[in-house]
Amino acid sequence: MANRIYFGDNLATLRGVDSSSVDMIYIDPPFNTGKLQGRTQIRTVRSEAGDRTGFQGYRYETTKVGTRAFSDFFDDYLSFLEPRLREAYRVLAPHGSLYFHIDYREVHYCKILLDDIFGRDCFLNEVIWAYDYGGRPRKRWPPKHDNILVYVKDPDNYTFNEDEIERIPYMAPGLVGPEKAARGKLPTDTWWHTIVPTNGREKTGYPTQKPLGILKRIIQASSNPSDLVLDFFAGSGTTGEACLALGRRFILIDNNPQAMEVMARRFAGVSDIEWVGFDPGPFQAGASQASLFESTGDPDMVPAKLGDPRP
Ligand SMILES: C[S@@+](CC[C@H](N)C(=O)[O-])C[C@H]1O[C@@H](n2cnc3c(N)ncnc32)[C@H](O)[C@@H]1O
Repeated sequence: MANRIYFGDNLATLRGVDSSSVDMIYIDPPFNTGKLQGRTQIRTVRSEAGDRTGFQGYRYETTKVGTRAFSDFFDDYLSFLEPRLREAYRVLAPHGSLYFHIDYREVHYCKILLDDIFGRDCFLNEVIWAYDYGGRPRKRWPPKHDNILVYVKDPDNYTFNEDEIERIPYMAPGLVGPEKAARGKLPTDTWWHTIVPTNGREKTGYPTQKPLGILKRIIQASSNPSDLVLDFFAGSGTTGEACLALGRRFILIDNNPQAMEVMARRFAGVSDIEWVGFDPGPFQAGASQASLFESTGDPDMVPAKLGDPRP
């Protein structure tokens, strides 16, 4: 099989992966927010006696269908990460890259840890993913970005497909001439992209699911067709979906049964996956994500495209 999904602790699983066998790694570990990360899913059915008003002003009845959650509290976060990151370094091919997705709370400590593992000269970028969603505290600047640290194993020889990266519109196209304006420009290290739309088809209902657009841009730039991509904090399997869209192979690992259920539904109909330690069958029969909506929808959120230069 081209692709594999493992149910289990990622440290033990990583120890079974061959050295230098993976072309690219993306990970999005729990951010150590000190909370239980959870989402409640609801099913909505149109009904005159419904408890909420929805699409086109119709009344809808909502039923709670479940909660998905994982713990995001660590006594010693760096001690949890370090052995896993050392394994990541070992399994990464000499031309490979690691994308490490985190937020403002832990990014500085993680940078120091990754510098120690990869070497400071192997730090390529800090990508800022900026979004605009959710509440705005009034006593500080509302934090509305994530940090993605990018490391390569060899700063003189790594995959970076500049020509494959989807170009974005110039902010002032009138200044660059029609030809350049039509071609667009390469994105910088600051990416404007919405969170996963709360009621779009992409939404799986898994807490902290990352947008497919972000993963596709990363994988397109830093791997080649048929390369092997690893995500050992897989969650809802966004990395796997991006790989399927772009013709890459993948290994995904997660230790949360609810993540496995979500991935089973998300990859229903994809036969080229070996499931290790988990039977996806019961969750794939008649699976449909389309009827699940988040209960935490933000009506102010406006969908935007990658590269949208708007605050
Ligand atoms: C932030 S979520 C990843 C979300 C994912 N990027 C997505 O788009 O859905 C982090 C995931 O790491 C998993 N995780 C935490 N500790 C783990 C461990 N020791 N082994 C495997 N998975 C773990 C959690 O179950 C959770 O699904």
